[in-house]
Amino acid sequence: MTTLGQTKLILWDDSFSVGEKTLDKHHQHLAQLINQLGGIDSNEIKSEEMVDILSALVSYAEYHFQHEEELMAQVEYHELESHRQEHIHFCEVVSEICYGATLGVISAKELFSYLTRWWRNHILLEDMKYKPHLAAISPEIA
Ligand SMILES: [Fe+2]
Repeated sequence: MTTLGQTKLILWDDSFSVGEKTLDKHHQHLAQLINQLGGIDSNEIKSEEMVDILSALVSYAEYHFQHEEELMAQVEYHELESHRQEHIHFCEVVSEICYGATLGVISAKELFSYLTRWWRNHILLEDMKYKPHLAAISPEIA
C-alpha cells in the first residue's frame, strides 16, 4: 500500500457506504481528490498544484454538501443544522488552508493527513447518523 509518512491513501470499502448511491459516489470522488495529494512526493509538489487540488476539492465539496443537505431536508433529519455547520466549517478551513498553500507554508503531507482524517471521521461519525433516516427515501438501503 502506498503511504505518505504514516498516512495511508483512502481506500473505499463498504464500511464507508451511507447506503445512497449518489452520495457514495460523491464521497468516493472526494477521496480521489484527497488521494491526489497523498500520491505526490511532499518535496516535489509545487504550491500551485496543491492550490489546484484544493480548489477542486472545495468546489466539489460545496456541490456534494448541498446535495447531501437537500436529502437530509427531504427526510426532515433532526441534526441537519449541526451537520450543515460541520460542512460550512470544513469549507472555511480548507479555504484558509488553500491560502496557506499559496504562501507555501503548508506541506502536502500535513494537508493530506488532515484531509484523510476529516474524510474518514466525517463519514463514519457524522454521515452515518443520517443513514437510517435516508433509508426512508432510498429503497436500495438495506
Ligand atoms: Fe456530510
